[in-house]
Amino acid sequence: MTTQTHDRLLIIDFGSQVTQLIARRLRELKTYCEIHPYQNVTEAFIADFAPRAVILSGGPDSVTRPGSPRPPQAVYDLGVPILGICYGQQVMMQDLGGRVEAGDTTAEFGRAWVTPAEGPRPDILNGWFLDGSGREQVWMSHGDHVSALAPGFEVLGTSPGAPFAITADLARRFYAVQFHPEVHHTPNGKTLLQNFIHDAGFTGDWTMGAYRAEAIAKIRAQVGDKRVICGLSGGVDSSVAAVLIHEAIGDQLTCVFVDHGLLRQGEAEEVVTMFRDHYNIPLIHADEAELFLGELDGVSDPETKRKTIGKLFIDVFQRHAGEIEGAEFLAQGTLYPDVIESVSFSGGPSVTIKSHHNVGGLPDKMGLKLVEPLRELFKDEVRALGRELGLPDSFIGRHPFPGPGLAIRCPGEITREKLEILRKADAVFIDQIRKHGLYDEIWQAFVAILPVRTVGVMGDGRTYDFACALRAVTSVDGMTADYYPFSHDFLGETATRLINEVRGINRVTYDVTSKPPGTIEWE
Ligand code: XMP
Repeated sequence: MTTQTHDRLLIIDFGSQVTQLIARRLRELKTYCEIHPYQNVTEAFIADFAPRAVILSGGPDSVTRPGSPRPPQAVYDLGVPILGICYGQQVMMQDLGGRVEAGDTTAEFGRAWVTPAEGPRPDILNGWFLDGSGREQVWMSHGDHVSALAPGFEVLGTSPGAPFAITADLARRFYAVQFHPEVHHTPNGKTLLQNFIHDAGFTGDWTMGAYRAEAIAKIRAQVGDKRVICGLSGGVDSSVAAVLIHEAIGDQLTCVFVDHGLLRQGEAEEVVTMFRDHYNIPLIHADEAELFLGELDGVSDPETKRKTIGKLFIDVFQRHAGEIEGAEFLAQGTLYPDVIESVSFSGGPSVTIKSHHNVGGLPDKMGLKLVEPLRELFKDEVRALGRELGLPDSFIGRHPFPGPGLAIRCPGEITREKLEILRKADAVFIDQIRKHGLYDEIWQAFVAILPVRTVGVMGDGRTYDFACALRAVTSVDGMTADYYPFSHDFLGETATRLINEVRGINRVTYDVTSKPPGTIEWE
């Protein structure tokens, strides 16, 4: 079933490491596209999808190998523009009557320069070769090369290792390039993609307003008059999913907010106020701090902490969700990168969905079907949708916060006293960062309270209080990270504020470990 009203571009994935970036660039150009592994793209699929244009991605295979991946002939018969990239170019040439050779001598990896062919420049090259050097930097990554063009094709650009760097059959609007226009190392690559979609007649109708309307229609069609449960964590993804679903089905949605007592200062109140009072969403606030802190009493091993919290979370969620009569669906904030990463390229067409961190295993256990309205979005698009739905910027731009909460920022035993100190210290640190205008430059910042008391002197008295560590890192995806280079003035001012304003801390350290070898959290 499709409720799509805008034009769609189909990206057939042959397994390149950077296929996702094609989608990224096209979305930036307000063009709706979907990536599908070549195994899934049958003639029937194409007829149903009805793309306005097709892109054949790069891939690791060699078209010279018998049985190498191909699109069905129906792709070429659609009469719509096609762009082949790298392996996609070679596939087109081979399929359409040209020739491709495996070759060690012509392999190109990394930066290369393309110069235009003699003669008139077709529109696909608009905006290219204009900067005076007469050439464009591109990123190549190919071992095989095209050795003879398919009938109807001509050369529009060449590089030292790729005489057929840019080729086109202008009559059929088939384009094929040996390099990767989707990566940043092809600085003008997005212009080429823009020319391609312009040629295909896309109007840039992929806006968040359109997405919102479409997603609402889809949710209504999927859910009907049934009930949906959504686990809220206070994070951006589950919050945006909840607000969107509520807009679609109103009070058929109930949110369950498991408050494990390990949240930051004011966080639980903020979630409850925003969802219950501002958005009027039926919300069960499961205040289970006693239960969680009781079970964590005396636990200091990091893995035991995580397992205890994870298991309790599922128990508690299940208990509260069980009170909601007739629920058939569980909402999750799964994003597009999770969906793509879980497509097994070589393992056939089956798609495994990564389980949401906090509710993993729940849908099966509770016999619930999934509603995943963010499955087509990248993280920054989720933020844009959140803004479109009226969620405040301060909420949408927040640093990530781990599911186990403050427990993993409190090495050693967790006590209420330590948690209270940690909450206050964290609030001061974040306030400092905001005051200095640094919040958006930092991926994540927090305080960890150390299981060490140190001697200090305040006024004329001796203190014997906790030491804490400040942590602030830059990162793109949390997989690798670097410590943030605060000025000494900033660190000194922050240490003074912490010691003056937070009773229980008398020493402040700054953690300058990158990841790897460290991790972002302390446990
Ligand atoms: P690490 O500490 O592994 O963290 O370098 C990488 C990123 O993941 C977050 N994190 C978690 N998020 N549940 C979550 O939802 C968890 O158990 C968890 N552990 C770490 C961490 O805050 C950082 O952003």
